[in-house]
Amino acid sequence: MQSAERRQAIIVLDFGSQYSRLITRRVRECHVYSELVAATTTLAELQRNPHLDIKGFILSGGPASVYDEHAPTCDPAILRSGLPVLGICYGMQLLAQQLGGRVAHTSGRREYGPATIEVAAEAAGDPQVFRIFAGIDGSAGGTEQAQTGAPEAERGQAEEEQTGRGEAGRGQASPVHLPAVAPLCLRVWMSHGDSVAKLPEGFSVLARTENNPVAAMANAQGMVGLQFHPEVTHTPRGKEIIRNFLFRICGCEPGWTVGSVIEEAIEQVRQRVGTSRVICGLSGGVDSAVTALLVHRAVGEQLTCVFVDTGCLRAGEREQVVETFSRALHIPLVVVDARQRFLARLAGVIDPERKRKIIGEEFIRVFEEEAARLDEQGGPISFLAQGTLYPDVIESTSHDTAATATRIKTHHNVGGLPEEMSLQLVEPLRVLFKDEVREIGLALGLPEEWVWRHPFPGPGLAIRVIGAVDEERLETLRAADAIVIEEIRRAGVYRELGQAFAVLTPLQSVGVMGDGRTYASVVAVRAVTTGDFMTADWARLSPELLARISHRIVNEVPGVNRVVYDITSKPPATIEWE
Ligand code: XMP
Repeated sequence: MQSAERRQAIIVLDFGSQYSRLITRRVRECHVYSELVAATTTLAELQRNPHLDIKGFILSGGPASVYDEHAPTCDPAILRSGLPVLGICYGMQLLAQQLGGRVAHTSGRREYGPATIEVAAEAAGDPQVFRIFAGIDGSAGGTEQAQTGAPEAERGQAEEEQTGRGEAGRGQASPVHLPAVAPLCLRVWMSHGDSVAKLPEGFSVLARTENNPVAAMANAQGMVGLQFHPEVTHTPRGKEIIRNFLFRICGCEPGWTVGSVIEEAIEQVRQRVGTSRVICGLSGGVDSAVTALLVHRAVGEQLTCVFVDTGCLRAGEREQVVETFSRALHIPLVVVDARQRFLARLAGVIDPERKRKIIGEEFIRVFEEEAARLDEQGGPISFLAQGTLYPDVIESTSHDTAATATRIKTHHNVGGLPEEMSLQLVEPLRVLFKDEVREIGLALGLPEEWVWRHPFPGPGLAIRVIGAVDEERLETLRAADAIVIEEIRRAGVYRELGQAFAVLTPLQSVGVMGDGRTYASVVAVRAVTTGDFMTADWARLSPELLARISHRIVNEVPGVNRVVYDITSKPPATIEWE
């Protein structure tokens, strides 16, 4: 059993690959905790963390060449630690070089994209060395057999048929008859310009490609190099390879489950908070909701949630928060009606950045006042719970992006509350990804509808009313937005979309309604598909759905006579209009 105090962990050293974070994800999907750290992190630094029981390391890929003048390396103590190390792509070359092998440029023979590796049959003679490919045979998708003699086109088809066979198809006669002794070939995803020319001592070659004699190497101590990327879905057997590293080589136990994460988080909150009181700002989003649920499980009535009605909320939002938290989940909730003060400060403000700043500042002020009031009522509040997620943590400390990133928008987030409040932070989601947070939310009884809510920006509708914000324009937008969401839900596409909403433009246009001329507002509809909100594409909503949305908005929302659909991706546009 892993104790709540010390959890088994695989440390991923980030050499700058676009897939680094994905490696962490894949490991966690196998129920083993994993953390991504800067490549420069030393073994001593990692061992200072008493909560980590490090079972192995993964060196990620990266854009550098080991020959580059300032090529990143890893702390040699990691390679001497006796713990297993998996080097992927650049990580493999680094492993080879740091352990005394040699890496050569493969100019003219670079490999990018899909490739097939041939797993060396002779390596299977030493099961200890071969552990990374153990149990992977030709019986499931992602494999093909070499030397069938079949022309390329037929091979491709055979591969597709094999891949397409589900569980049910296994064990049945194969559509192609292959020699039983043919070496195992696996489809993989390659992206490299250098390769290992001389193995470090004690290593064996486990796989090769047509152009690369060392596509995989390993030694008996659990050091493994893979020239391809097992973490991407284009390497169909990649997950099994990662599982082999975790369970056969590192000896991990699959103990990182939703249940264990919840238990651990609750225990940690309890220990940190003791008998003190905690305040938590609810935003209406999933992160703050799950934070509140966890803290409530940990310290019960010592938690008070605060929900600020800024006047820039969506239709029915305040009622939904009260209904869910107070009535359904029985979590003490204070609703602060701050509509007047927010709208007074926003009056006449057009600049989006000023709007954000005003809302951020005002939010802090309201929150401080509320904390002081709660202090007087029931004893001092010492902790602030917030829903910071793991990607927020690594993004804000990222060594390769933070320095060069340009500020596009100042994000005011209810989570980013003031330091000057002298409250200590409790961040139970700090080690979790969004989908893990959603799973926890479901396990803790957060209604499914809430768990799958689209994100809503901290400044709310104020940055969707383009130009000056007032109660009347907010009301117009609220009504149009409610129709967009209602119709999207009715069409059953809400979950497929990253975000969908209405924007009230400052434009007026001419229309005709009944027999009369109108001169009224233009509403824009925005719907995007996205994985991480860093990039997004406009959603190809059906014409019928768009027609229903448009028809209802112009008929039901006073002051609107035209609806347009935003067909811009991000980049170059952003998801929000301001
Ligand atoms: P953009 O518009 O930059 O938005 O493409 C990316 C994601 O961030 C959300 N967003 C915000 N969230 N405070 C927030 O809490 C903000 O000021 C803010 N601005 C944008 C946006 O809704 C999208 O999900």
